[in-house]
Amino acid sequence: MTTFDLPRRPRRLRGSDHLRSMVRETHLRRDDLIMPVFIADGENIRQEIPSMPGIFQYSLDEVDRELEALAQAGVFRIILFGIPPTKDSVGSDACDDKGIIQRALRHIRAQDDRFYLITDVCFCEYTDHGHCGVVRDDGTLDNDATLLNLQKQAVSHARAGADMLAPSGMIDGMIGAMRGALDEVGRHDLPIMSYAVKYASAFYGPFRDAVDSSPQFGDRRAYQMDPANAREARVEAALDVAEGADLLMVKPALSYLDVIADIRRHFDLPLACYNVSGEYSLVKAAAAKGWVDEQALAKEKLLSMKRAGADIILTYFARDLAPHLDG
Ligand code: PBG
Repeated sequence: MTTFDLPRRPRRLRGSDHLRSMVRETHLRRDDLIMPVFIADGENIRQEIPSMPGIFQYSLDEVDRELEALAQAGVFRIILFGIPPTKDSVGSDACDDKGIIQRALRHIRAQDDRFYLITDVCFCEYTDHGHCGVVRDDGTLDNDATLLNLQKQAVSHARAGADMLAPSGMIDGMIGAMRGALDEVGRHDLPIMSYAVKYASAFYGPFRDAVDSSPQFGDRRAYQMDPANAREARVEAALDVAEGADLLMVKPALSYLDVIADIRRHFDLPLACYNVSGEYSLVKAAAAKGWVDEQALAKEKLLSMKRAGADIILTYFARDLAPHLDG
């Protein structure tokens, strides 16, 4: 007797591509992805970020080629980060109607109206000290003074043509403050995607190179979450829901799949996660050494985020992976 009488043989469902595709539970689609784009002030800038191979800072005259590449790949949702010409203590460029992001919004809108333009709403790229808002003399972040500036930044991004705003500073009350300011100028229609659950993570290292936003003193642990905490994520998400967030985000993604799954279970809003710079660079570095298959590894990682419960993934892999995904 060489065959056993097994009650069930799961391998029966794995025998062919047809079968595997029929019984697949989770799908990674082009439409799930949002590509971050870095905009620098100046001209003729197409500068690769050393710690993020394949990702560039572009000046507005150079960004069109990247937009074309994104359109070719079928990626039409982008989130914009700005590197302003000058930084100061309050991050004035962020709220200026002629600021780097405001100019980028107008430029891209005029160039190709197929793109859906999301803006990162924060101050760390715009302040000379690199913190995410107004800093007091003693070095601590002034929460409520920062809220007033966030309102100005939000309204200015709205005026310049943003389709969605994504505040990333983990400032208490940021969603309510922005919602109020937008409603007051009649922009009830403009959705807010909250970086609701954002950890003080070492995975942001390459991004801080990309936008030169490393804190000049101290760190962000007084406003971003402790990586040890999961229950606190629900407290943060509940507050943002109550303040009127339209979508929630967990960031980073890969080391926080448990948190993504937990937020998915407890909240019904659309859920995004941010596959951050460090997560991207680790794959790129290992692939450059020939140690892993970059495309397979990237897909598997993004799939794990969807399986955990994310609907949307912000990822630097979007442009390169999209052609290999279904719509
Ligand atoms: C803050 C912001 C950060 C990222 C997105 N928005 C960095 C930070 O909090 O230091 C990180 C993105 C990444 O690492 O890819 N405006």
